[in-house]
Amino acid sequence: MIDPIANRGAASEVLLSGAKLIDNELEVSWENKIPPVRFSPFWLRDHCHSKQSLNPDTLQRQVDTFAIPVDIAPAALEIGDGGRTLRIVWKHDGSTSVLPAEFLWNIAQTNGHDTAPRRRLWDHASMGENFPTMPHAEIMSGNEGLLRWLSMVADYGFALASGVPQSIEATQELATRIGYVRETIFGGMWDFTANLAFKDTAYTSAAIGPHTDGTYSIDSPGYQMFHCLTFDGSGGESTLVDGFKIADQIRTADPIAFQMLSTVQVPAQYLGDGVHLRAEHPVIGLDHNGDFLQIAYNNYDRAPFRLPATRMSAFYRALKLFNQLINDPANEITMRLAPGTALLFDNWRALHGRRAYQGFRRLCGAYLNKEDFDSKLRVLRAAAANVGAGR
Ligand SMILES: [Fe+2]
Repeated sequence: MIDPIANRGAASEVLLSGAKLIDNELEVSWENKIPPVRFSPFWLRDHCHSKQSLNPDTLQRQVDTFAIPVDIAPAALEIGDGGRTLRIVWKHDGSTSVLPAEFLWNIAQTNGHDTAPRRRLWDHASMGENFPTMPHAEIMSGNEGLLRWLSMVADYGFALASGVPQSIEATQELATRIGYVRETIFGGMWDFTANLAFKDTAYTSAAIGPHTDGTYSIDSPGYQMFHCLTFDGSGGESTLVDGFKIADQIRTADPIAFQMLSTVQVPAQYLGDGVHLRAEHPVIGLDHNGDFLQIAYNNYDRAPFRLPATRMSAFYRALKLFNQLINDPANEITMRLAPGTALLFDNWRALHGRRAYQGFRRLCGAYLNKEDFDSKLRVLRAAAANVGAGR
């Protein structure tokens, strides 16, 4: 197992070396022969970091964007603080804007958008038997352990916690290390006991094929945690498939199927108990860069919809390919969730299922919102980078 946060030192400081006006744009140059980057004067005024323009406590914009002249132009430019600051004196009112080099550099790299996180796609062979795991005590005791665990989930789409006390309270504490437990139509923290001893299908519970939860939710649960508190029986292994690996395979092998799966909005619904949830997602959701964003697949919950005949048959063909690949043992890992081991997985990436089982099983678990997991990971990574930079 590769350590997900090893060798992530703080980036070396990037410093400005000059600034000049070219074609009504402000071109900033960097030390160490990094190519220059151009910014519009209007944008620079809008993103001024002075106290009057950016609230230093809340980091909220205070500048009146719509009072900035459309033809705003600099009267003077200055690189200060040894290359760490760009100062611009504006021609129209003589005011000064201040922009940190680090801020300009970060914007130049991403244009202000999140980039796709580094991920390690896997199948049965590449994952092997050594699943990403962190001891519960390390996750609970400090931010480094929590960061390592969440980084594993970000990289692989799942991770295990070992040595978890076998109670619903301890499982909830583990979940709330990340964020608050999501309330859904099923409640918050759930605790489920299946004991069919008194039914004819004695002690038998059917297999569940690979799927993602909440395809009928506009904001499908981002993460899910399972903890098997008691198991007395046979079978019941949990299965996981890396949906992004499947999407990657289809993108390479069958571009037409990929196009159908990534563009056709598939409706899904939950109907009953006074509830009618309904949402639409493509099976393979992509972000604005074409990177994988969200797998949404649950054939049981798909709502009726139709397309023109040619596209309908192309969609069914693509769906069949997707279903074949997620049910291929070469793409699947299995694990028996023993009491004391909790599974946390990315419900926007990993498809989960369960083998049929016989016996008594008590499972508890929780949903977590994607944005709360992402927030915690950003905060922990920023704190770790600051510690690294301060050394
Ligand atoms: Fe499920």
